Amino acid sequence: MARITTSDIRDMKKRGEKIVMMTAYDYPTARLVEEGGAEVILVGDTLGMVVLGYDSTLPVTMEDMIHHTKAVVRGSKRALVVGDMPFMSYQTGWTDAMRNAARFMQEASCGAIKLEGGVRSAETVHKLVEAGIPVMGHIGLTPQSVNQVGGFKVQGKTPAAAVQLMHDAQALEQAGAFAIVLELVPAPLAELLTQRLSVPTIGIGAGVHCDGQVQVFHDMLGMYDAFVPKHAKRYADIGTMIRDAVARYSAEVKAGAFPTPKESFKMDPAALAELRPPGSERFQRRHALGLDA
Ligand code: KIV
Repeated sequence: MARITTSDIRDMKKRGEKIVMMTAYDYPTARLVEEGGAEVILVGDTLGMVVLGYDSTLPVTMEDMIHHTKAVVRGSKRALVVGDMPFMSYQTGWTDAMRNAARFMQEASCGAIKLEGGVRSAETVHKLVEAGIPVMGHIGLTPQSVNQVGGFKVQGKTPAAAVQLMHDAQALEQAGAFAIVLELVPAPLAELLTQRLSVPTIGIGAGVHCDGQVQVFHDMLGMYDAFVPKHAKRYADIGTMIRDAVARYSAEVKAGAFPTPKESFKMDPAALAELRPPGSERFQRRHALGLDA
């Protein structure tokens, strides 16, 4: 089965077909997300928070990303898998960016990479695209700069900030990004950007008029309670289902009610009889010590 490509994603915008993107960080999740209809799977650096338990995405390393991205690629057959460049894997210059992006393509067999920043990242995006590495941009709230922007806040609310976001989007488009994530951008501004750009916009907290949407798996399914963003819709409460299932399992183990014969394995009574001749504890002891062999 052929994988969805970045040009397929661009064509979807031309046809007015919405793009479904979701995060996944491991093999079983990638399978489920793809079977559920996601065309793009993002191995986001959010894995630092929702899977590895860090307070932010900043501690995530290239090794973490490559390890998880390989599993996602193994778990999916059709989706375009996008590897997220972690903090300091590209901010230090385009040569580092090139080396690290190449790892996503060569070691993890990604179809594209994503990095944060507009005007400030445009040169790097251009170099990567020239080298044949498809790049997804990411502007608005860029979580790797959370310490600079002062928290997880909606971006582009003032006229000056909105104009800056437009410049950022245009710079990424000109640099050759095949799509741009808009995170925490007011819906009317995201709509304007979507109309002005030839490349697809993928929104997260950016309203319904983006060309596609991305959600974080754990937010959507109730599996991460530390912080639930306003833009995340709970489509299921898998966290509660898991907790309830484990509680039932615990209770049954404690009560000696699990496993039942249904989950147990039988043994040939003749073989058992050899180990346990009726009434012969002495035989069992001698047998265990190998004295009757
Ligand atoms: O890391 C991530 O999951 C992301 C999405 C929030 C777009 O960048």
